[in-house]
Amino acid sequence: MTAAEPIGSEPAVDAAEIPVDELAAVAPPAPDRTFRPGEEILLIDRKKRRYLVALEDGAEFHTHSGFVPHGDIIGKREGAVVRSSRGATFTTFRPTLSDFVFKMPRGAQVIYPKDLGAILMLADIFPGARVLESGVGSGALSMTMLRAGAVVTGYELRGDFAARAQKNVAAFGGAELTQRYTVEERNCYEGIDEVNLDRVVLDLPEPWEVVEHAEEALLPGGIIVAYTPTIIQAVQFRERLVESSFELAETIEVLHRGWNIDGTSVRPDHRMVAHTGFLSHARLLPA
Ligand SMILES: C[S@@+](CC[C@H](N)C(=O)[O-])C[C@H]1O[C@@H](n2cnc3c(N)ncnc32)[C@H](O)[C@@H]1O
Repeated sequence: MTAAEPIGSEPAVDAAEIPVDELAAVAPPAPDRTFRPGEEILLIDRKKRRYLVALEDGAEFHTHSGFVPHGDIIGKREGAVVRSSRGATFTTFRPTLSDFVFKMPRGAQVIYPKDLGAILMLADIFPGARVLESGVGSGALSMTMLRAGAVVTGYELRGDFAARAQKNVAAFGGAELTQRYTVEERNCYEGIDEVNLDRVVLDLPEPWEVVEHAEEALLPGGIIVAYTPTIIQAVQFRERLVESSFELAETIEVLHRGWNIDGTSVRPDHRMVAHTGFLSHARLLPA
């Protein structure tokens, strides 16, 4: 019997052994990642202030430190430094998902990136996962799950928030994300029409009102996750799970503390986002 290979081990290949012409044949061509009109980009000034700008032919980005014609940015690569009419400099990048969530227009309060990342793991979002999300709010959680490859149906009580979420998702990811995204204006407490779902992910005031509907809508092994700002909500959700076919319930909180590392000054930051919410999750047993 041969010994099992540890996960992640790969056969050693010495690149020097591959002839250069063969290397050129297998290496993909460098992608064109220059900035184009229509995309959202980030300008960062010398004080590290961030500005989200939608690039448009002929438009200008204005601040109190002068203006930058978009034409000076279009066609450049990430990291390019551009100068305003009054000599201020801005470094240009594509926004990360986290940048975008903080800077995008909001209807409802968004889930913070530290919790968004944890939700991807707790809900085990995978490419093609069929997810019911409610409420949709500003779309921060939607775009996070869509970018991880999920197919997301959102139930949102308010029409204006549903529209805002769809606009934000389109601005962040374009058709690549919107083709897997549907939002319906409806009350999730009244039921879920979808069946054979892989995941139900909730950010609404009374997630316990959705537990019974999720039992009907999820496949066995399916996962339910609820983000709740207060522990009282988490407890009520957990109590409803006890009466249900969900198992392996757990509630966690994610604490994110930055550190100042500057020469001999190495210490935790004085400020942190001390509390955002609780994340509760569980898995469905077969009926
Ligand atoms: C805090 S926001 C969600 C924010 C969202 N997770 C994000 O990251 O952008 C909560 C949303 O739940 C919606 N909502 C509240 N009760 C609901 C219900 N019964 N059915 C559907 N949506 C509901 C609200 O209108 C609001 O948009």
